[in-house]
Amino acid sequence: MIWDIQTHDTLASTQARLKELAFGGSREGTGVQAYTQTGGYGRQGRAWVSPPGNLYLSLLLRPDCKPHDIPQMALVTGVAVIESIRAYVPSVFLKWPNDVLASDGRKLAGILLETDIDAAGRLNWLALGVGVNIASAPDQIGAALADLTEKHLSLNDFRDEFLKRLSLWYRRWQTEGAAPVRAAWLYSAHPQGTPLKIKLGESRLDGYFEGLDETGNLLLRLESGEIRMIASGEVHFGMNE
Ligand code: BTN
Repeated sequence: MIWDIQTHDTLASTQARLKELAFGGSREGTGVQAYTQTGGYGRQGRAWVSPPGNLYLSLLLRPDCKPHDIPQMALVTGVAVIESIRAYVPSVFLKWPNDVLASDGRKLAGILLETDIDAAGRLNWLALGVGVNIASAPDQIGAALADLTEKHLSLNDFRDEFLKRLSLWYRRWQTEGAAPVRAAWLYSAHPQGTPLKIKLGESRLDGYFEGLDETGNLLLRLESGEIRMIASGEVHFGMNE
C-alpha cells in the first residue's frame, strides 16, 4: 500500500476530515493525521481526548469485500497495532473487538471503523481511525507507552512502523482471508476462559472467552456450557460488577 498521509497540527477530528475526503472520492491509502484533536471521538460516540504527543490517524480503505466482513478489519488493525507496540512493551494484549490493553488492563489504543454502504449493499469505503496513547494517557483507564518503556519513542517512527505492518496484514487478509488474521489475533488476546460480560443494548450476557469463530465473531461459553456467537457488543472483563 502506498500511503498518502496529510498531517495537521490540529483538527476537530481526523476521522471527520477523512470522511469528507472519502465522500469526495479520494483514493485508498489516503490518510489524515493530527497532532491534536479538539473533537476526537471513539466508539459509542464517546469523546477521545487528544492532547499533543499521541497518534491520531485515520485511513481510507476501499476493500473489495462484503460489508459483513468489515468487522474483521478491526482484528487486522489490532494485530498491526499490537505488533508495533510490542517493540516497546512486550506484555500487552488485545480485547475483542478492538482494544489494545496494557498488562494491567489499562487502554493503550483504540480502533474505530466507520463505513459507507451504497443502496445495493456494497461497501464504498471504510474509514479506519486509530488512536494510540504514546506520550500520555488522558485518564485513569488509559495507559501511555512512554510510561511503560525506557526505550526512545518517536511518534512518527511509531506511525510508520504501524503503517508498514498494517499494509502487510491488510494484504494478507485480502489474499488469504480471515484465517491468518484470526490466528494472529488470538495469539495476542486474553486467554481462553477469561470471564467476560457483554453488553448488548440494555441486556447483559456473562460467560467465558472461548475464542473466535472463523469469521472473527466472539465465542462466549455460558455457565450452562452453551456457546453463543457474538457479532458485536461492548465487552468488559469479570462477571460480578
Ligand atoms: C475507541 O476505542 O473508542 C476508538 C477510538 C478512536 C480514536 C481515533 S483518534 C484518530 C481518529 N479520529 C477520531 O476522532 N477518532 C479516531
